[in-house]
Amino acid sequence: MSDLPSSVRALLADASGPESRLELRSLPTADLGDGDVVVAVSWSSVNYKDGLASRKDGKVARIDPLVPGIDLAGTVVDPGSSALATGQRVLVHGYDLGVAHHGGYAEYARVPADWVVPLPDGLSERQAMTLGTAGFTAALSVVALEEHGLTPGAGPVLVTGASGGVGSVAVSVLAGRGYEVTAVTGKAEAADWLRSLGAADVVDRSALDVSRPLQRETWAGAVDCVGGETLAAVLASLRYGAAVAASGNTGGVAVPTTVFPFILRGVNLLGIDSVRCPIERRRAVWARLAADLRPASLEDLATDEVPLEEVPGALARILDGGARGRTLVRVS
Ligand SMILES: NC(=O)c1ccc[n+]([C@@H]2O[C@H](COP(=O)([O-])OP(=O)(O)OC[C@H]3O[C@@H](n4cnc5c(N)ncnc54)[C@H](OP(=O)(O)O)[C@@H]3O)[C@@H](O)[C@H]2O)c1
Repeated sequence: MSDLPSSVRALLADASGPESRLELRSLPTADLGDGDVVVAVSWSSVNYKDGLASRKDGKVARIDPLVPGIDLAGTVVDPGSSALATGQRVLVHGYDLGVAHHGGYAEYARVPADWVVPLPDGLSERQAMTLGTAGFTAALSVVALEEHGLTPGAGPVLVTGASGGVGSVAVSVLAGRGYEVTAVTGKAEAADWLRSLGAADVVDRSALDVSRPLQRETWAGAVDCVGGETLAAVLASLRYGAAVAASGNTGGVAVPTTVFPFILRGVNLLGIDSVRCPIERRRAVWARLAADLRPASLEDLATDEVPLEEVPGALARILDGGARGRTLVRVS
């Protein structure tokens, strides 16, 4: 790799002191981590997990210091012995990226070849990171629900945490496929935007009944990235035999439910994991994100775009639950 610089500009989370510090530093290229493939990173994004990875009490970072950024898109500058080509446009997310291996908030990344997804035709690097880990997780959720038997004519589908990354992409993907979507949000000011993404109805988070384990059978399916009491309320209001795809925990990890939704209504809890999702399924779902799962309002999902210098503020916002849509990180 003769033409790689000896050091790269990177945002590092340093947890060696009493609290984590985020600092722009020059990182020796030799320290980028193990892997066969070197990618010149053009875009990354801000995910909830990036916020956790940048904090000592987030319990996500497994190396110190760490370049956070659980997703990235860019161009291969050294394919190593892989089947990739120099100049090929790719994206990477999940596995150890941005957690136990330096991630997307640096000009270059070095990663194992079997983490790499060739960018599907029809998606630019920027569009790929508009979707990012959150969008991929939304797509995995929709795929899981459809594999379970959900179809657009089946009835209304609920999306919780709808103004966030996973939620807003789920609203847009489902609407694009002809589903009748009800969006649950804690942000009244996001209602018009959610309707513009395709939500037929927008419900305030406070209107969810979290007190009763069985409620009126309402939803033909649900995408939940909130967990906690919200997931319990979703389980209680699914129709007979319906499923919820559960991916997140912004509302808490304990789910105060009973066995009744499962044993009296045959409802199904589908676990969604983007991190260890096998690479073949990962590549196949990305190909679909550029085609039949492409969000109807892809460009409108990117609500903010920041350079590396402004990532710390964006990470604080997402941890506060104040972010709307997807924040892109312009790396180089
Ligand atoms: N399983 C996986 O592989 C996977 C992949 C990606 C993300 N995730 C998880 O999915 C979740 C969402 O990630 P994201 O990147 O989309 O984050 P995000 O952009 O912050 O979205 C989360 C949304 O949850 C809602 N929310 C926040 N705090 C809440 C609270 N206390 N009670 C109820 N709702 C609350 C907010 O939406 P409203 O204001 O609209 O209600 C917020 O926008 C996170 O827990 C993340 O770790 C998991």
